Amino acid sequence: RIDRANRPRTLNEYIGQPIVREQMEIFISAARGRGDSLDHTLVFGPPGLGKTTLAHIIASEMSVDIKSTSGPVLERAGDLAAMLTNLQEGDVLFIDEIHRLSPAVEEVLYPAMEDYQLDIMIGEGPAARSIKLELPRFTLVGATTRAGLLTAPLRDRFGIVQRLEFYDIESLTGIVSRSAKLSGMEVEMDGAREIARRSRGTPRIANRLLRRVRDFTEVRGDGRLTLDVADKALNMLNVDSHGLDHMDRRLLLSMIEKFDGGPVGVDSLAAAIGEERDTIEDVLEPYLIQQGFMMRTARGRVVTSSAYQHFGITPRETQARLT
Ligand code: ADE
Repeated sequence: RIDRANRPRTLNEYIGQPIVREQMEIFISAARGRGDSLDHTLVFGPPGLGKTTLAHIIASEMSVDIKSTSGPVLERAGDLAAMLTNLQEGDVLFIDEIHRLSPAVEEVLYPAMEDYQLDIMIGEGPAARSIKLELPRFTLVGATTRAGLLTAPLRDRFGIVQRLEFYDIESLTGIVSRSAKLSGMEVEMDGAREIARRSRGTPRIANRLLRRVRDFTEVRGDGRLTLDVADKALNMLNVDSHGLDHMDRRLLLSMIEKFDGGPVGVDSLAAAIGEERDTIEDVLEPYLIQQGFMMRTARGRVVTSSAYQHFGITPRETQARLT
């Protein structure tokens, strides 16, 4: 398969994110040299950029096991206690969507992170007792889409904080080409680059589009990844020349057509396109903002002149001064 099996296992195989890679190499190497566990690490950034992959790489580079869970799954303090007491010295505990931990679970996490102590109440009423347990020196790796979603006390307990950025086209071309070759395809660079250009800076999207392009070339082409076949397949999938998909275009066009280009509040926008506010903030707008199609201002979201240009729409006179 093009995705999971081909995930990089080491920092050396990890393409792109040069700053994160260099820093993690140093921190991991130093911790290993001291025979210590790695400091707790927070990884944040839009979906699909490799937060989970990075957590697995950390465990593998530290030669320890990884146990994975997520914020919403840990409903009660006991759920986290069960995970924590199941760890070995040095292990990685990976908590995805860590911003969605309940306050009661977060309370248990603080002393666990700081002093490797489990401090938990068992039972209720007069029979309730508090128990304290020593935990092994583990590494918490937390992942979230936005660091700002975390409570300050939780954020402050991470010694290492890494922000994943959208990938540039060169790195994504490398990722597409690597995945395609691992799945046995013959690759022309122009073909790999076309998928990279149209993947919203996101490896998960690039690998997903690659799977569809592979289908296309196996049936309509000669099985090779070429520019022509990539272009035709991506057009068929409604991925435009900038990599904007149906939802991206819906968001931008709604701002232009229903809100005169903005400023418009994110809740009004969510209602207008029938999407969750969180999806707009976490998934859709980070890339559109990075690409300069829209802006976040104090009064709300505003489209830029690049968005009008992209759709071939002329801004109305009154809009000229806003964009
Ligand atoms: N597959 C997904 N993300 C990757 C990355 N950053 N490097 C290499 N392969 C990947």
